[in-house]
Amino acid sequence: MQIRIADLFCGIGGIAEASHLLAQHDRTDEMLISGIGRVQPKVVAAIDIDRSVASLYQHHHGIVPRCSTIESLPGIADDSTAELDMWWMSPPCQPYTVRGSQRGFHDARSQALARLIELIPLERPRFLGLENVPAFEGSLHHQQLQRVLRDTGYHYQQYILCPTELGTPMRRKRFYLLAKRDGKRFADISRKIEKRPFTEFITEAGWEDKTLHVPAESVSHYEAAMNIVDIRKRDAIAACFTSAYGKSPIRSGSYLHCSARGQIRRFSPNEIAMLMGFRSDFFSTCNLSQRSQYRLIGNSLSVPVVYELLSVLLAN
Ligand SMILES: C[S@@+](CC[C@H](N)C(=O)[O-])C[C@H]1O[C@@H](n2cnc3c(N)ncnc32)[C@H](O)[C@@H]1O
Repeated sequence: MQIRIADLFCGIGGIAEASHLLAQHDRTDEMLISGIGRVQPKVVAAIDIDRSVASLYQHHHGIVPRCSTIESLPGIADDSTAELDMWWMSPPCQPYTVRGSQRGFHDARSQALARLIELIPLERPRFLGLENVPAFEGSLHHQQLQRVLRDTGYHYQQYILCPTELGTPMRRKRFYLLAKRDGKRFADISRKIEKRPFTEFITEAGWEDKTLHVPAESVSHYEAAMNIVDIRKRDAIAACFTSAYGKSPIRSGSYLHCSARGQIRRFSPNEIAMLMGFRSDFFSTCNLSQRSQYRLIGNSLSVPVVYELLSVLLAN
């Protein structure tokens, strides 16, 4: 049976990418729900305020996201998506981050999540997932969400997970909440995954792309604060890439150093996409600027983490 997912705040579709992987890897034996049988997750509706994601999302995931603010919608289910089983929510994290406003409840960017919390008891999707920065935990919206879930009869489980725990050499610690209406316990997250070498994510094309090179003056100016990874280190771990990568020279992600080439360069958007678990040519066919590609991948989800969470949520 198909589990029809609404990808809310869809961006480039981390949850859609994880759903494709689940379909390909056929973990459906582990994903049996009693009374329903085998389940297959599929994103059937997507919403984002950002029009620029539409063609990339359609190219990779086969549907055109609806361009709208979530708080302006009367509901999530409409005539075409009447049978939604699950909502995946990745609301903006700036209201909760240290570098953002930390105004939470009072930040206009949190209105969409406030609206979704109101809609949960009215639409009662069978499954729910939410991703945000760790600082979301304990916020007023977090407390309100938990109250609504309890009052509406959901069972929920919360996690702080980093892709490094699942074998990916990149830090991206995030808060996740999974909720379901049936009372079955949540399965454990599988962490027995082999560590993947860093070099698997680095391409020769990246060294040839001059737009990625960091000028020597910038290096000498910012070097002390730059996170520079030596490519000879197989066990290196990249820092978390943010949407400011390529714009803000520090605290937005790692750089690569190759002493044989005497070069320091940025990661390409496709290399970051691979570290995030997306297919290796994710940005190859799009006509978005390099700056937009960095912004979109820096806002997205770690696909292997979301893949494990989807498996846990939909397993019996
Ligand atoms: C953290 S990103 C989510 C990324 C996405 N899950 C992915 O895998 O790429 C937040 C997204 O919410 C969108 N957004 C922000 N405010 C919104 C609103 N009020 N209504 C709808 N979308 C909004 C942004 O354009 C951005 O793409």
